[in-house]
Amino acid sequence: MSEAFDVWRVRKDFPILEQRVHGHPLVYLDNAATTQKPRAVLEAIRRYYEEDNANIHRGVHTLSQRATAAHDAARERVRRFLNAARPEEIVFTRNATESINLVAQSYGRAFVGEGDEIVISAMEHHANIVPWQMLCQERGAKLVVVPMDDSGTLLMDEFERLLGPRTKLVAISHLSNALGTINPVAEIVAMAHRVGARVLVDGAQAAYHMPVDVQALDCDFYVFSGHKLYGPTGIGVLYGKASLLEEMPPFMGGGDMILSVTFEETIYNGLPFKFEAGTPDISGAIGLGAAIDYLTGLGMERVGAWERELLKYGTEALQSAPGVRLVGTARNKASILSFVLEGVHPHDVGTILDQEGIAVRTGHHCAQPVMARFGLAATVRASLACYNTREEIDALVSGLKHAREMFG
Ligand SMILES: Cc1ncc(COP(=O)(O)O)c(C=O)c1O
Repeated sequence: MSEAFDVWRVRKDFPILEQRVHGHPLVYLDNAATTQKPRAVLEAIRRYYEEDNANIHRGVHTLSQRATAAHDAARERVRRFLNAARPEEIVFTRNATESINLVAQSYGRAFVGEGDEIVISAMEHHANIVPWQMLCQERGAKLVVVPMDDSGTLLMDEFERLLGPRTKLVAISHLSNALGTINPVAEIVAMAHRVGARVLVDGAQAAYHMPVDVQALDCDFYVFSGHKLYGPTGIGVLYGKASLLEEMPPFMGGGDMILSVTFEETIYNGLPFKFEAGTPDISGAIGLGAAIDYLTGLGMERVGAWERELLKYGTEALQSAPGVRLVGTARNKASILSFVLEGVHPHDVGTILDQEGIAVRTGHHCAQPVMARFGLAATVRASLACYNTREEIDALVSGLKHAREMFG
């Protein structure tokens, strides 16, 4: 399958990859933090500002109508991408973090009470921990954490044991940003639904690596960020089942989320506008729509297959590199190579690699509880995207050898 995926042709779509850093060709392996943008996305945003820029929904003039149509079309692209049943189930936010906060504040305020339980996993990003902690504090609810084993695999027996009649919501990452573990989300949803709990899936890392079908998963909420999916920063998505979104109160008040306002009473707008107060990130949504078109044009299955091949290549290369220990070795994994290099602090590794033009992330990856679980303060994380190559992994391995020589 990988023969059909011409990574060198794909790379040509990303102008930023052509540059040199410190005299070396840029090797961009920080994709879990944010991905680079293809020309199609850059052009869609430029075209919007050059030709259609106007505020949406409020104008009868031509530009406003064009901008509104483009914004609606972007929502439809997201709907199709996630296989949501209806466009009203797609709420635009700023990012995955805001989407999670929206559910915590809106669903949480309406449905979570004293003594209720929110279940998360031990491998969550801070964005899928802190909003629930805040909610629990406010409502007198309890945060319950499902543990994982030494490979970074969720303990499903424990998960089942921790579910109960007080479980109101399960919030779980589809793909762990610190370990690369893919969680069995469909199974988790089925188990949670059996006890009457709702499920939010944090798809910030999964959505650009694998096809997502929210109806097949049967999750109640699914969130992701545009900027990790080859789209612009400032745009995010909350998918929610319409029946649930209907029942939830607004998150923020202001223009666009209302049908009518008097000083005595405000009547809220329907879905999805009830959750989209104020002028949205119009160009961001259009850019995200273009990113989705680009990615589906490449083919999610083919992208996934190429990235799996790279992950296998990278895993084997790092496992045989002297002094490297991988952190996160779950059987079902994608796109993340998190590791420590014996005798060299991760930040020093990152700095030396940067001198060779290689961009990786070092630190706790906004997942301090994961680091604590593995007894580490930080790791080095190389994360893959559709445009990465085997040669780039070779460059990483050779950079690590140099780092060891310098510090060894
Ligand atoms: C698993 C996961 N969830 C949530 C987030 C938050 O994404 P954002 O900062 O775009 O809101 C990230 C970002 O790295 C992530 O990896």
